[in-house]
Amino acid sequence: MKAAVVGAGYWGPNLIRSLVSQRSLEGVVVCDKDPKRLELIKTRFPSVDVSTDLDHVLSDRAVEAVLIATPISTHGPLGKRALQAKKHVFIEKPLAGSKAEAEMLVELAERNDRVLMVGHTFEYSPPVQKTRAVIEAGDLGKIYFISMMRVNLGLHQRDMSVIWDLAPHDFSILFYWLRETPEMISAFGRDCVQKNIPDVAFINVRFPSGVIANLEVAWLAPSKLRRTAIVGEKKMLVYDDTENIEKVKIYDQGVNFKDPESFGEFQLSYRTGDIVSPRISSAEPLMNEMEHFLDCIRTGKTPSSDGRSGLRVVEALEAAETALKTGNPVHLSPKS
Ligand SMILES: NC(=O)c1ccc[n+]([C@@H]2O[C@H](COP(=O)([O-])OP(=O)(O)OC[C@H]3O[C@@H](n4cnc5c(N)ncnc54)[C@H](O)[C@@H]3O)[C@@H](O)[C@H]2O)c1
Repeated sequence: MKAAVVGAGYWGPNLIRSLVSQRSLEGVVVCDKDPKRLELIKTRFPSVDVSTDLDHVLSDRAVEAVLIATPISTHGPLGKRALQAKKHVFIEKPLAGSKAEAEMLVELAERNDRVLMVGHTFEYSPPVQKTRAVIEAGDLGKIYFISMMRVNLGLHQRDMSVIWDLAPHDFSILFYWLRETPEMISAFGRDCVQKNIPDVAFINVRFPSGVIANLEVAWLAPSKLRRTAIVGEKKMLVYDDTENIEKVKIYDQGVNFKDPESFGEFQLSYRTGDIVSPRISSAEPLMNEMEHFLDCIRTGKTPSSDGRSGLRVVEALEAAETALKTGNPVHLSPKS
């Protein structure tokens, strides 16, 4: 089997790098409409074939897998062409630029019996996987709330807001951890640099279980922050993806509330115990993700981040964007 990567701009070369090291592939073809990008790719990865003609790539029967890393507005149309050509398809996050397009892709993949996977890279990241294991082992107790920051200076996009660029990561991580989707989303934002393209957004999310979450996403910030704090009934966890080694720390901290026996008795006691940083594999998320995609094609397994998972995230993004534009919260029907 050969794999084709469509789109070799900023992110595409990372997919190409992961694929050229996959021994199970016979070859990698790279397609970009810009011949200059292809020249650079050929210099960096001499073993790949390149083409500006997507029809030509899709007509190659040896190409069974197509990976799309083009701008979001093209995900729907290009994904549709690849699925109609009976290819297995991986689409970078978010799956599509609208709920309607995401539904169309899911339906087409199911009808054609093809693998459809979305690039929710963080679901393949060892610290994110470890955090889910900690939550599911009950170590944190009942989760009260989660606060997430994903901010840095740039890269400003021309055709979408910061919500569509950065929040897919946080929504996919939240849904992966909690195994539920929101019942309500509200958002505030501002277009500070380019008119009508919000570059900062504060998104509030409420889940059916009662967990609430806040996502702060921005292309305007003095330093790069990728920090999530989970506050539970028993313990608290901080996942900081900018840390080199100790990306996850579990704090044995909390507040105990005692029913007062007498009037005036102090009712709260604060607990500050150990801080533990669990051992976490150093495997590269993108490599895990590519191996998983190829494995699903070979075995017929459903990917962890399948089309439906992509659709759930797109629904949340659309709701957050609507809430930001209208100033009103959006109510959703939660899905498990
Ligand atoms: N998983 C991650 O962590 C991560 C990180 C960054 C970007 N991304 C995603 O990757 C995708 C691409 O983002 P980017 O920053 O690399 O964009 P980019 O603009 O840098 O690159 C896009 C490339 O696609 C090419 N292209 C556009 N339309 C095409 C078409 N019809 N046929 C062939 N080539 C076409 C362009 O010429 C360009 O080279 C986006 O969906 C983005 O959200 C994912």
